[in-house]
Amino acid sequence: MLEVSNLDVVYGRTHAVKSVDLRVESGEIVTVLGANGAGKTSLLRALHGAVKPTGGKVVFEGRNLTSQSPAARVASGMVLVPEGRQIFVSMTVHENLLMGAYLRRDGKEARDLGAIYDRFPNLAERKYASASSLSGGEQQMLAIGRALVARPRLVMLDEPSLGLSPLFVERLFGLLGELNRDGISILLVEQNTTMALEVASRGYVLELGKVVLEDTAAALARNTALTEAYLGGGHMPETAGA
Ligand SMILES: Nc1ncnc2c1ncn2[C@@H]1O[C@H](COP(=O)(O)OP(=O)(O)O)[C@@H](O)[C@H]1O
Ligand SMILES: [Mg+2]
Repeated sequence: MLEVSNLDVVYGRTHAVKSVDLRVESGEIVTVLGANGAGKTSLLRALHGAVKPTGGKVVFEGRNLTSQSPAARVASGMVLVPEGRQIFVSMTVHENLLMGAYLRRDGKEARDLGAIYDRFPNLAERKYASASSLSGGEQQMLAIGRALVARPRLVMLDEPSLGLSPLFVERLFGLLGELNRDGISILLVEQNTTMALEVASRGYVLELGKVVLEDTAAALARNTALTEAYLGGGHMPETAGA
């Protein structure tokens, strides 16, 4: 479904993503692990189209999207739930969801928003509340809900569990499993290695922009040396001590 080959991202003197090969088959949950600065966000931003890769190819369902805009990629069926959620805090919950529908011209947005409110009863209750009044966990659900409005076949998520309470982390991973059972493929960047490897079927480990390991999730989960070598302190939130 998604075929990434030889992808490179360079910012000035920083070579953030180095010749990355990665694939997601239809129906899979694939996770990308790596310490802070490993290049995970740069990789997702290049797949989304927000960053122009300096080399390589992004092919989605047989179409070469490498030089397509983010909007074109969303329209093709791949969406990103960005790091830090990036919801519009000055808008209501409902307006945020409508933003996810801006590419839709098929007149069925209302029906799909209904399905999203069914999936997220918390958001339905707060439909006309300001998004800024939501808890961190609810904001993450809103960011995911907004992505789902575009009716994607592949959802990419950048550290969705970061900063969430244990209860919301459980709900989040439960939701990812549910979406996957509904036929949505998932590319999940996480620092919560344990949870990510539980929900995923395969995983990649990035170090300094390179894929250093690639295996089934079960094999990666058994590989404790991995967690220490590449993911050092992997569960600590980036904001710890700040
Ligand atoms: N916009 C940018 N400009 C310059 N350097 C960047 C930019 N974004 C990220 N980097 C650098 O690229 C490397 C990879 O960062 P990033 O992709 O954010 O990693 P991760 O998401 O794994 O923490 C880091 O060295 C980071 O400092
Ligand atoms: Mg990141």
